[in-house]
Amino acid sequence: MSAVLNRLEVLPQSGWTGAEIVGVDLRDPLPQEHVETIKQAILKWKVVYFRDQFINHAQQIAFGRQFGQVTPGHPYEGDVAPKDYPEIHTVSPQAYEKRYGKNYIRRGSSNGPAWHADVTPLINPPAYSILRAEVVPAYSGDTQFTNVAAAYQGLSEPIRKLIDGLRAEHRFGANYNADRSDERIGDWVRNKPLASIHPVVRVHPESGERVIYVNPSFTRQIVDVSPRESRYLLDLLFDQIQQPEYTDRFRWRPGSVAFWDNRAVLHLAPRDFEHLQFDRVLHRITLVGDVPVGVDGRQSESIAGEPFLAA
Ligand code: SIN
Repeated sequence: MSAVLNRLEVLPQSGWTGAEIVGVDLRDPLPQEHVETIKQAILKWKVVYFRDQFINHAQQIAFGRQFGQVTPGHPYEGDVAPKDYPEIHTVSPQAYEKRYGKNYIRRGSSNGPAWHADVTPLINPPAYSILRAEVVPAYSGDTQFTNVAAAYQGLSEPIRKLIDGLRAEHRFGANYNADRSDERIGDWVRNKPLASIHPVVRVHPESGERVIYVNPSFTRQIVDVSPRESRYLLDLLFDQIQQPEYTDRFRWRPGSVAFWDNRAVLHLAPRDFEHLQFDRVLHRITLVGDVPVGVDGRQSESIAGEPFLAA
């Protein structure tokens, strides 16, 4: 490794969220000090970005293994993973159409823009995701991130106290009526449901920070309150997590990599390239996560589905 590559730098990209890391080559095994620096940068900035990393599926998986156990690409979607790489989840309009049926990507969620952490209906949602760009639009197609620890701190104390003790149901497909779909996703959601009850405020297992742990994609309702109360509380929290000061917006280039902590940041996939004739192909892996714990020390409970373990 050259002297330049040994100097790893962390360059913050916004006030709360996102840092670019330079001086590292993800094709090679990393020295332990670089692993530690990357972990610390993610702990502080919630998502880190790398540029010009032209790695393949095997190198992406090997990179991820330095930070944890790599899961299968998705609990529902192993059958469309690239040959020999069950860990890879390809993100592209074509891949989603193959998995879920046509129109899937264009369906709106009943909760507005589909901010999410990856697969929170699982009892142990992935701790980290690593997304790599292969083909990107000439313009458009950025991914946005929001720091949900900062968003929690931005709430007033009485509201923080109110939500600290609440729990919510997360269910795959619930917020775009997938259960009524006659496409492939409808079968999955009806016959192989995936749902858990998680704390509305999760305590991050490493930083000890409290984070808002609901998201418009997967959170169906707050439990043990009335549907109307749930609606108002969720709308307040969904509004809070989308406030611009907590967000960062990442412009992809071929070879870009984003590495985020699903326990501290939500992300929003772009919709602004769907009407343009651009390809957009990215590949994601996820690392095994822990069972969330609330402020009162209570763990999440599974309603349906198995723990998501190493591939
Ligand atoms: C994802 O939700 O993991 C994909 C994000 C993106 O397409 O930008």
